[in-house]
Amino acid sequence: MNTALNMEHFWMPFTTNRQFKAKPRLLVSANGMHYTSDDGRQILDGTAGLWCCNAGHNHPKIVAAVTSQAQQMDYAPPFQMGHPKAFEAATALASMAPKDLNRVFFCNSGSEAVDSALKIALAYHRMRGDGMRQRLIGRERGYHGVGFGGISVGGIAGNRKHYGPGLPGVDHLRHTLDINRNAFSRGLPPHGVEMADELEQRLLALHDPSTVAAVIVEPVAGSAGVIIPPKGYLQRIREICDKYGILLIFDEVISGFGRLGSAFGADYFGVIPDMITCAKGLTNAAVPMGAVLVKQSIYDTFMAAAPENTIEFFHGYTYSGHPLASAAAIATLEVYREEQLFERAAAMSGYFEDAAHSLKGLPFVKDVRNLGLVCGIELDSIPGKPTARAFSVFLKCFEEKGVLIRTTGDIIALSPPLIIEKSHIDQLFGAIGDCLKEQ
Ligand SMILES: Cc1ncc(COP(=O)(O)O)c(C=O)c1O
Repeated sequence: MNTALNMEHFWMPFTTNRQFKAKPRLLVSANGMHYTSDDGRQILDGTAGLWCCNAGHNHPKIVAAVTSQAQQMDYAPPFQMGHPKAFEAATALASMAPKDLNRVFFCNSGSEAVDSALKIALAYHRMRGDGMRQRLIGRERGYHGVGFGGISVGGIAGNRKHYGPGLPGVDHLRHTLDINRNAFSRGLPPHGVEMADELEQRLLALHDPSTVAAVIVEPVAGSAGVIIPPKGYLQRIREICDKYGILLIFDEVISGFGRLGSAFGADYFGVIPDMITCAKGLTNAAVPMGAVLVKQSIYDTFMAAAPENTIEFFHGYTYSGHPLASAAAIATLEVYREEQLFERAAAMSGYFEDAAHSLKGLPFVKDVRNLGLVCGIELDSIPGKPTARAFSVFLKCFEEKGVLIRTTGDIIALSPPLIIEKSHIDQLFGAIGDCLKEQ
C-alpha cells in the first residue's frame, strides 16, 4: 500500500470515510475483467466498476478514441455552438434506442439525466397547454441519482431524510419486492402484477390523473438491491399511463447497454416508455456522460410551441455533449455492436443464473434474484447490525479472494462486464459461496 498518500482531503461519496481511510482499498489499473490493486493483486470485477464498464476495462478502441479526441479538441461550447462528435454520438445512440426515442439530450451523469427528464416532462405538458400536470410519481426503493429531482422521486430513505421535503407534489408507488411469494425466482418473479394497479386505483384516484405529468421507474431497480419487476407489471404501468396521458420514463442508467441482454430494458420487456434516462455504459464509464432519449413527438412539441428564434428548452450543462465523452460514446456503442456484447450477455445469462442460484441453501442466503447479467443475493441480517453481514462478505471477497462485489444493505449486487467468461462466473460465485460458509 502507498503509505505516503494523503487521504484527508477527498471527501469520498457514499463511503464510510473514517473506516475506509483507516484501512483503504485502492485500485491502480484495470484491463478487461480485472482491476489491479495497489498491492499488486488481480481483482476480478464482479460489478463492472459501478454497473458501468460493460465492455470491460480499458477497451483499446475506447481508449484510442478518447486519446485522439483529447489531442484534437479539448472542448467546444454546446450553447449556440456545436461540434460534429456530439451529433454523431446522438445519432449512434438514437439508432440503438427503441423506435421513436430518437431525440437525445446529453448531460454528464445519471442524476442529471433524471433531473433533465423530469424537467422535460413538466415543460412538455405546459407547452401543450396542459400545465396543471405537475405531479411526478416515483417508486419506493427507486434510485434516480442524487439531484433534488432524483431524490424526490427516488424511494431510498437514507438518500432523502437529511434534505428537506424535496419537490412538491411527488408521490410513490410501492416497491415490488415480495420475498414471501417470490423468493429464489429465476428471471421475472411470477407474483405481483397487481401492484401496478395501485397507480390507477390509489395514486390517480387520490390526485386525479389530470394533475400527473410523469411516472418514473427503473425497469429493474438496481441500487436498492436488484428488484426484478413481476411478470406483466411494466406492461400494466404502460397501459395505465397511456389511458390517462401520463408520460412514462424508464430510468435505464443500470438496465441500459446490454445489462439484460438487450440494448435497453425497454427492449427486453417489450414496453416502450416516452423517455429513457441513461449514463454509465453509454461511454463504458471512460468519460462521464448521461443522456435522455426522448420520443420525437415530445421534441416536436417543444419546437412547435416556442416562438421562432427562441430557445425551446431552457436547460443544459456546460459539458452537454463534451467532445471527450462524445468520442467515448461513439466508440463504446461501436464496440457493443462489433463485439455483439448484448447478445453475448443474453447467451451467458443462463450460466450466470445457474451459478447465482447454486448459492441457495448456503448459510444466511434469504433470496437470490437475477435477470440478464445482474443478480441480487439477499442475506439474513445480523440481529441489530443491518448491513454488517453483507459488508463483511464484501471485505473478505476483496481482501482474501481477489473479487470485487457490491453490497447495499444486506444484499450483494452483481453486475459484471458483459465480456465475462464462464470461468469468471465460477470464480465470482465460488468466492461468495466460500465467504458465506466461512462467516
Ligand atoms: C437507475 C439510476 N439512476 C440514476 C443513477 C445516478 O447516476 P449517477 O451516479 O451517474 O448520477 C443511478 C446510479 O447508480 C442509477 O442506478
